[in-house]
Amino acid sequence: MEMFSKETYIARRAALAAAMGNGVGLFLGNAESPMNYADNTYNFRQDSTFLYFFGLRKPNLAAVVDFESGDEWLFGDDADIDDVVWTGPLPSVADFAATCGVAHAEPMSGLAKLLSKLVGKGRKIHYLPPYRTDTMLWLSTLLDKKISEVGQQCSLELIKAVIDLRAVKSDEEIAEIERACAIGYEMHTAAMRLVKTAASERDIHCIVDSIPLKYGGTTSFTTILTQNGQTLHNHLHDKPITPGRLMLVDAGAETPMGYASDFTRTFPVSGKFTQRQKDIYQIVLDTNDRALELARPGVTYQSVHLECCKTIASGLKALGLMRGDVDEAVAAGAHALFLPHGLGHMMGLDVHDMENLGQIYVGYNNETRPIEQFGTSSLRMGRKLQPGFVVTDEPGIYFIPELFEKWRAEHLHEQFINYAEVAKYLDFGGIRIEDDLLITADGARRLGERRIPATISEVEEEMTKTFSL
Ligand code: GLY
Ligand code: MN
Repeated sequence: MEMFSKETYIARRAALAAAMGNGVGLFLGNAESPMNYADNTYNFRQDSTFLYFFGLRKPNLAAVVDFESGDEWLFGDDADIDDVVWTGPLPSVADFAATCGVAHAEPMSGLAKLLSKLVGKGRKIHYLPPYRTDTMLWLSTLLDKKISEVGQQCSLELIKAVIDLRAVKSDEEIAEIERACAIGYEMHTAAMRLVKTAASERDIHCIVDSIPLKYGGTTSFTTILTQNGQTLHNHLHDKPITPGRLMLVDAGAETPMGYASDFTRTFPVSGKFTQRQKDIYQIVLDTNDRALELARPGVTYQSVHLECCKTIASGLKALGLMRGDVDEAVAAGAHALFLPHGLGHMMGLDVHDMENLGQIYVGYNNETRPIEQFGTSSLRMGRKLQPGFVVTDEPGIYFIPELFEKWRAEHLHEQFINYAEVAKYLDFGGIRIEDDLLITADGARRLGERRIPATISEVEEEMTKTFSL
């Protein structure tokens, strides 16, 4: 099992204990999750916070950290001979505890006993909001709470302390994310190369999704690979390759240690962009580049998002699709007809990092509040950037016929949108270009040793190359 050295996990837990000061932290690892019957499970994915503090990717573990005394326990049951027959020999829970520097290892039955002892002494038990039903049930039993109370009574203090730690990536975490980016590079260049010999989206999808497996990893989320990129999270890959269409591929890798990459590229299935496609593509690329220019410590990602919306709006204005004052158009939200999502999100052990802890705490704070306007309300990361943050930079332009029809019928933003001109683009699809950015001491840089081909000429050149595994 790949993990960082035990000192990393010891230091992370010590930093958490120092931030919390008092109380006890309860960390529940994930269990196997059945697909269609108990023994046929989805691929196991450990809870990311459990991974962050303990690094262990075995199901059915739990841990307790006493933030005052520094005492730490790992709970789990050793494999017995019946298990070993099916799974092979496994390290003991004591071995697992030693690999992450936890002093006490106990059978799972000890967890409830320890918690009731601590509660009896009046200690506060801090836990994070559960996102799986089995974890909710487990917490309900362990802490003697109603299911409805389990979510409500999670610890905001712990949520905030964990976010503060996980948001700032260490050098060894950056190296892992770079690994995920290198795999992402292979996935995306494979897609570009494969399209000329593919009959359907599936022919490309099956190869793209297999590439992380070569590295002992997996995809970091369900791949989007579609000639209907105007549907933002389109998970269908069943269309024949259709001349003239644009293929949008939004895909990333997760390394064996759980770190993610997340990239999007869009390319013409014919291998050459048409002039109309080039016009729109260049606006999206300029917007992606603009975000990199603007992102730096102390600047809010919300302000970067809004500036990027202006780059989109002024590009569309130059093409005659928008009109009027660009600043006013963006303030009114008119650009959201074309860009109905946010510029990006944090990324780390989760592709949308820590989304389970509450987007409002991950992406916002008292200083930067979400903007409740269609489009910008989908911005997951709004607050001030800090060195060590990793965020995605993923602008797009989409022609969504259903949204267009609704807005036109409602005469929405007519002073900013040239509906007659936009109507000519309803067969266009969508373009998104996504890179992953590390915020540095004085700016930002793209993660990944090489940028995945992004300019029009780079993409067309990549598409002429032959794919081999
Ligand atoms: N890559 C998918 C997303 O960011 O939602
Ligand atoms: Mn993304």
